[in-house]
Amino acid sequence: MTDLVAIARSFFAPGKGLLAADESVETATIRLASHGIQTGEEMRRQFRDLFIGAEGIEESLSGVILFTETLREKGNDKKLFTKSLTTRGIHPGVKVDLGTEPFPTSPHELITKGLFDLPERLAEYKKQGAVFTKWRAIIRIDGDTLPTAVAIYENAKRLASYAREVQMAGLVPILEPEVLLGGKHSRRRARAVIEETLGVLFSALEEQSVDRASVIVKTAMALSGSDSEKKDTPLEVAEDTIAALVASVPRQVAGIVFLSGGQTPDQATDNLSAICRLSKENGGTPWPLTFSYARALQDEALGMWKGKKENVPAARAAFLARLAKVSAAVDHS
Ligand code: 13P
Repeated sequence: MTDLVAIARSFFAPGKGLLAADESVETATIRLASHGIQTGEEMRRQFRDLFIGAEGIEESLSGVILFTETLREKGNDKKLFTKSLTTRGIHPGVKVDLGTEPFPTSPHELITKGLFDLPERLAEYKKQGAVFTKWRAIIRIDGDTLPTAVAIYENAKRLASYAREVQMAGLVPILEPEVLLGGKHSRRRARAVIEETLGVLFSALEEQSVDRASVIVKTAMALSGSDSEKKDTPLEVAEDTIAALVASVPRQVAGIVFLSGGQTPDQATDNLSAICRLSKENGGTPWPLTFSYARALQDEALGMWKGKKENVPAARAAFLARLAKVSAAVDHS
């Protein structure tokens, strides 16, 4: 039998974390277009190859989250991406939710879909080499009105159903209820919403008998909204983020990873460093912490790449430089 707890814990080796390379077709198209790159399936494959094909990533990456189409594709070295990751000791995983739709009970909020044929899809992803999965729910803050308790609860229930199916399929689930950065809210409000969202999530996990020990939580940091005037210091972010997590995440959980959520690469690096340093100064959090970034790891490289072969070496060098900084942020040994 697969030892899911051991796999889940293995993501948190010192200085290692995850690359989220699981942008859906829609998100990848928007992301690449913002760098002036026209997309199609082949350009998306090259986009994945830019990062997965970079030499030495295994020094800082324990896992890469892939989009479903990437599971079937090969890199420029003619090897399946999954194989090329596995041979370097990096776990391949896959985003298994099917995006969001408006929540009928509260139409300004989104609910994540993808449970319907999940067991069949999981069996297929496992055959293709995935050892872990991700499901993302979106929680939006708007003043005191959003998020609603019903939207938090419905997303939590679906995350719990997802986690149960994934564990039964012999895979490790990453649960990502992302509290969005967009808005005018304060950092304290973000902290309270993260705490409430995770609290409700863990009640739902208990109701559905999900084994907490092989679960990885993926969360946003507690930050002032991107439209607020406030610029948080890394120490403020660290204090509020850790407080929210300590109040809501049971100690048995395998670990916690952070998304970058629209922070600049430097902010995402500095805030992560402050979180890990503060945790260490206080004798450590009950669970290991690391990164699971998409934009903060990829954006500088995409700006240099522009979809052109001749720019690959410079773009990869920018990616590896950022990866080394983010890795140093989680390794205060
Ligand atoms: P960002 O780091 O760009 O927020 O992406 C992480 C992620 O996995 C979003 O689902």
